[in-house]
Amino acid sequence: MTLIPAGTIGAKFLGWGTALPPKVVSNDDLTKTLDTSDEWIRERTGIERRHIGGSTASLSIEAGRKAIEMAGVDPLSIDALVLSTTTPDRTVPATSATVQHGLGMRCGAFDVNAACSGFVYALVIAHGLIAMGMKRILIIGTDTLSRITDWSDRNTAILFADGSGAAILDAVSGPGQLLGWDFDADGSLEDLLYADIGKTLHMDGKEVFRRAVRVMVDSAEKSLKASGLTANEIDLIVPHQANIRIIEAACKRLDIPMSKTAVVLHETGNTSSASIPLALFDAVDNHRVKNGDNVLLVGFGAGMTAASAVIKWHNS
Ligand code: ACO
Repeated sequence: MTLIPAGTIGAKFLGWGTALPPKVVSNDDLTKTLDTSDEWIRERTGIERRHIGGSTASLSIEAGRKAIEMAGVDPLSIDALVLSTTTPDRTVPATSATVQHGLGMRCGAFDVNAACSGFVYALVIAHGLIAMGMKRILIIGTDTLSRITDWSDRNTAILFADGSGAAILDAVSGPGQLLGWDFDADGSLEDLLYADIGKTLHMDGKEVFRRAVRVMVDSAEKSLKASGLTANEIDLIVPHQANIRIIEAACKRLDIPMSKTAVVLHETGNTSSASIPLALFDAVDNHRVKNGDNVLLVGFGAGMTAASAVIKWHNS
């Protein structure tokens, strides 16, 4: 690849797609096996139902295929696949290899694991690859958290679910859509949320909640500063869909009204890597985003990772 001087080449979204497993599990369904209630889950999390099923590869292929079809591109013209997931189908090989083959692509492919911040990590990595000379990249955020959830633990079973979101990023001359971004992680907090290999998730929900608000706000402020924009100039914020109370608290501190916030968690639960693309493309498909809008993506997750990006939406 030819190295291109920084800033002379950027990227834009050319197509996107999402996938949710057909099986829907309501809060009432969970009350059959857990000591909980629909009212408690709605009030404390905002979640009403979630989609469960599929593998990380199958959901990624479904979302990726939709993104490729919408972009109208040949899978063989894609230069790289970056798959964000914290629930790979196998330890070896990377699930991106299965997805690459399933989509009829022939290019470099790798997984990124930054928990629920992963899609933003993948987005920024893709921009970096494009700045280094690649022309077209497929990024996918997929998780099948239901496979590592202990369904007898009401602390986690009410939250986690499955889904996927994918996008084709194409090189454009000029700076492109990405105006500012930020990554963070604090491995000293790994015991707040973890799953050992072959085991289920353990979470200190209260402490994750407390820190989530702080790291989201901190990361979003760094991206805003890098972009040269103020919170006032953001047309839509797309936060990680973990808990409506975390979203409300973070938006309040950022001084961004809930009317400018993309929320799908009542339908999806917490889908980790898929959460930001599911919320972003739901907003775009529902005409909540127009060309020229400033969109702030911000995620946090196990590790304790955080990532944010300010993009200027242009898809025409
Ligand atoms: N149903 C009914 N009652 C419950 C449930 C439940 N599912 N869970 C807890 N309770 C009870 C508790 O036992 C407690 O009862 P007590 O007052 O008699 O002791 C009471 O409800 C309050 O419990 P809290 O733990 O204080 O509830 P909280 O309001 O903190 O909500 C929750 C818990 C939803 C887990 C919240 O802390 C949270 O969302 N934390 C963040 C989790 C998160 O975002 N994780 C994902 C990170 S991203 C990633 O990487 C995947």
